[in-house]
Amino acid sequence: MMIVRTIGELRFALAKQRANGWTVGFAPTMGALHDGHRSLMEAASWDGCLGVASIFVNPLQFAAGEDLDSYPRTLDADAAMAEEAGISYVFAPSAVEMYPEPSWTTVSLDVVTEPWEGESRPTHFAGVATVMTKLLSIVGPCRAYFGEKDYQQLAMLRRMAYDLNLDAEIIGMPTIREDDGLAMSSRNRRLTPEHRAEAPIVSQALRLGIAAIDAGETNPATVEALIRDALSTAPSADAPDYVAVVDANSLRTPDHLTGEVRVLTAVRFGDVRLIDNMGTLIS
Ligand code: PAF
Repeated sequence: MMIVRTIGELRFALAKQRANGWTVGFAPTMGALHDGHRSLMEAASWDGCLGVASIFVNPLQFAAGEDLDSYPRTLDADAAMAEEAGISYVFAPSAVEMYPEPSWTTVSLDVVTEPWEGESRPTHFAGVATVMTKLLSIVGPCRAYFGEKDYQQLAMLRRMAYDLNLDAEIIGMPTIREDDGLAMSSRNRRLTPEHRAEAPIVSQALRLGIAAIDAGETNPATVEALIRDALSTAPSADAPDYVAVVDANSLRTPDHLTGEVRVLTAVRFGDVRLIDNMGTLIS
């Protein structure tokens, strides 16, 4: 496995591999890798493709006052995990390599980015869409893998690939959880012991919502209230930024739940903001 720091070096290496008949599978990350990322990297390498992972903490997707500076950076451990997962190239550019000058181009999407995370973090999705357009153009994969934990991000990237006729197929991978249900996230390691002990309430609350839907509840407001009540039992959690009970494709709240449904939330424990979501199908 090679760690590559520049766009030119990566393009050169991948051009040679393509000439040898390889297609590329891509797992984009911001590093601080955990088992959720491992599943993306394994899928990228095992689908018969040459596996490429990127590790880049993208400043464009953090607003002023968010955790860009404190975001964990653990390149040595990340490279070891990437190698174990079968990745052939880790692309780990500097911010100057990716943005040598302020970008005059921003990729932004309407509709799917407006509610939920978009309300709490108004510049976030344009930062993700812009860096992913750059990374997909640099790496040129046939498939790119993203965790369902960032469900709205996944929905946005699928739509971006569709709208812009990108070559890459965008593939969502199931959320990987700790034994107590907490969705794996690079931010979990910044939770205090007290917050870590209470954090599983997030997945428990969502599971309650899903159980109610599976038991026949079709009123989104009732499901939302159930989830909010459960979340309010964690004394050290702030009130959730949002609790969304939505159609899984439009991410809008319908009058009555039907078909594929998703429940999503974002909850802050101290200065760590956790997001999670779960889905079910009403048949
Ligand atoms: O999900 C992430 O880790 C990031 O948002 C991504 C997709 C790598 C873009 O920086």
